[in-house]
Amino acid sequence: MCPPTYFDVNYSINEWMDPTESVDTTRANDQWQSLVDTYRRLGHRVHLVDPVPGLPDMVFVTDSGLVVDGVALGARYRSDHRAPEADHVLRWFVEHDVRRPTRPVYINEGEGDLLVVGDIICAGTGFRTDERAHAEVERHLRRRVVTLRLVDPRYYHLNTALGVIDDRTIAYLPSAFDERSRLTLRALFPDAILADESDAAWLGLNLVSDGANVVMAGQATSLAAQLRERGYRPVPVDMSEFLKSGGGIKCCTMELRGWVEPGERP
Ligand code: ARG
Repeated sequence: MCPPTYFDVNYSINEWMDPTESVDTTRANDQWQSLVDTYRRLGHRVHLVDPVPGLPDMVFVTDSGLVVDGVALGARYRSDHRAPEADHVLRWFVEHDVRRPTRPVYINEGEGDLLVVGDIICAGTGFRTDERAHAEVERHLRRRVVTLRLVDPRYYHLNTALGVIDDRTIAYLPSAFDERSRLTLRALFPDAILADESDAAWLGLNLVSDGANVVMAGQATSLAAQLRERGYRPVPVDMSEFLKSGGGIKCCTMELRGWVEPGERP
């Protein structure tokens, strides 16, 4: 995670961002800290990358790469505003001995568009990540990649339209995808939870789940109810200040899958 020290909205690269609206920095810091506290309370370990002045979106660290089996693929941003973030996170990978840290050739916004579900990686395209990056992901991380096309500009990253609940279960907003992708999703995940417009508008799908606890926007009440019905435990965290930038819980959280801290290796 990356502290929101320099978080602000001073450019606009998605429909949520209005640079004339002001950000309450204290509130943003408090909300972000409560997300960190929530993870720790649930028994997860949180590592931090240093925030960098002039990079107001760096708090959305998930977009800067994807780590699977302890192997890292870095990011390449579509917008020049965010481009330097990728280098800072790539350096973190190198310094912390994440294996094979590599800068991708094609535009690729990390876990913003690449979501691991069990053995496969669901990969978004349409707004940010270049479809050609999907084959690159497949080669570097040796996992099957399924391409999904996003069509609603409010849900410009895959992780705003689809949330991974466990190795077999996802939740998503059908209208955020083109018809072919909806067919793909229905075939792969016949038991998926279907979110509604209001869940999605609170970025309720921008969630982090450990398979039992689902850390998510509490305002997404119908999604929370569906999760509860299936035996999961929604854990509400309010990240409303970050909605001004089009970001939520998952955006602030990169998952380090299969990475063991150098000091703890045998
Ligand atoms: N302002 C950021 C952008 O538009 C928000 C990114 C949020 N991340 C996400 N995965 N949705 O790039």
